[in-house]
Amino acid sequence: MLTLVVSMAFAQQHSIAQTSVPQPAEETPEMFPAGPHRDDTFYFCTACHNFKLTAAQSMNREQWDETLDWMTTKHNMPKLDGDDRKNILDYLATAFPVTSPAQQGGFKNPFLN
Ligand code: HEC
Repeated sequence: MLTLVVSMAFAQQHSIAQTSVPQPAEETPEMFPAGPHRDDTFYFCTACHNFKLTAAQSMNREQWDETLDWMTTKHNMPKLDGDDRKNILDYLATAFPVTSPAQQGGFKNPFLN
């Protein structure tokens, strides 16, 4: 029984480790919802990580705004200001909004992972 619990815990950790380093083959802006500033947003964010990581989130504008600050303070993203910030926020909040209460709790669309 103990062995079973331990091996399940290992299997779980293992799969988390695998999914936290997404390495998509080819991504293009066209794979994501069309909208103003999509391409700018895509290329800005994919300097560091694939865009699927971004598209898997569902957040309101304020939460996207906090995410941009978090990227800057925690991950050294170049600070976004003025029109650039507004344009990117426009796209993120329109293309990946909060669509259901379940998604506010961190739901991830299984078809995007
Ligand atoms: C300078 C590098 C850099 C840039 C540019 C960048 N990020 Fe990140 N971002 C990171 C790192 C590092 C992580 C953590 C990587 C991980 O969890 O695999 C991360 C993680 C994230 C996460 C968290 C995903 C999760 O699982 O919770 C989101 C959302 C995100 N980034 C959004 C963005 C958006 C939107 C942009 C463009 C406006 C952006 N990032 C640009 C470095 C960057």
